[in-house]
Amino acid sequence: MNEDDIICPCTGVTARDVMDAVKNGANTVEDIEAATSAGTVCGACIQDLEALLAKLKTK
Ligand code: FES
Repeated sequence: MNEDDIICPCTGVTARDVMDAVKNGANTVEDIEAATSAGTVCGACIQDLEALLAKLKTK
C-alpha cells in the first residue's frame, strides 16, 4: 500500500493519516475514527482500517 492511498473514500483519509494517528497513540479502530474521522460515514473501510492497524502494530 502506498502512503498516499486513500483508505476511506468517504472522508478522504489516507494511509499516511492513519499511520500518523497510530504514531500519535491510536491503538484501536475507534481511536483512528476519533483521530481522523475515517470509518465514521459508511463503515465500508473498517476492515481495511483493521488490517492496516494490525500491520502497523506488528512493526
Ligand atoms: S469508506 Fe470509510 S466511512 Fe465510508
